[in-house]
Amino acid sequence: MAILKIARMGHPVLLREADLVADATAPEIRRLIVDMLETMDDASGIGLAAPQVHVPLRLFVWRGPGGEPAALVNPVLTPMGEETEPGWEGCLSIPGLRGQVTRWKRLRFEGLDINGDPVAGETEGLMARVMQHETDHLDGILYPMRMEDLSRFGFTEELSRAAAAAAAQKETQS
Ligand code: NI
Repeated sequence: MAILKIARMGHPVLLREADLVADATAPEIRRLIVDMLETMDDASGIGLAAPQVHVPLRLFVWRGPGGEPAALVNPVLTPMGEETEPGWEGCLSIPGLRGQVTRWKRLRFEGLDINGDPVAGETEGLMARVMQHETDHLDGILYPMRMEDLSRFGFTEELSRAAAAAAAQKETQS
C-alpha cells in the first residue's frame, strides 16, 4: 500500500483522454486500486480517478454510502431521463475550491468492479454526481470546464463563511 501523489489542475495528465484497461484482474491494476483508495482516504476525498494519480487509465474509486470501498474500471455511464440538478463539487486536483455544476440526476453505470467482474446498476443523487465527475476525469474534463456560472465558484473557506453569514442573517430575520 502506498499514498500516491495527486496531480493538480494544470498538469497535462488531467487533460488527456485515458486509455481502456486491458486486463482489470492484472496485479498492477489491483495494486493501483488499493493505493488509490488509500490515497483518497488520506486526502479525505469521496472519489478519485486514475489520471489524478498520473495514471492515464479508465478507472476510478469511491466509497459507497455505507463507506464500502468500490472501483469502476472502463466505466460507461448512460443518463436515465432528462432530469438534471445543480450541486456543489470539489476536486482533489483543485484543492481548496468549490463550484456548482449541473449533472444528470439519474444514470445507469456499467463496467468492471474491484475484482474485475462485470457490474451494472442504476444510481442517483450524490453517487450519480460522483460517477459523472470521476468519469469526466477519464475524458480530460475538470468540473470548472462544466460550469455555466462562474460566480458560483470559489474558495471553500469563503463559501462556508458566506453560507454561515447568510444563515445567521436569515435567523435574525425570522
Ligand atoms: Ni476530481
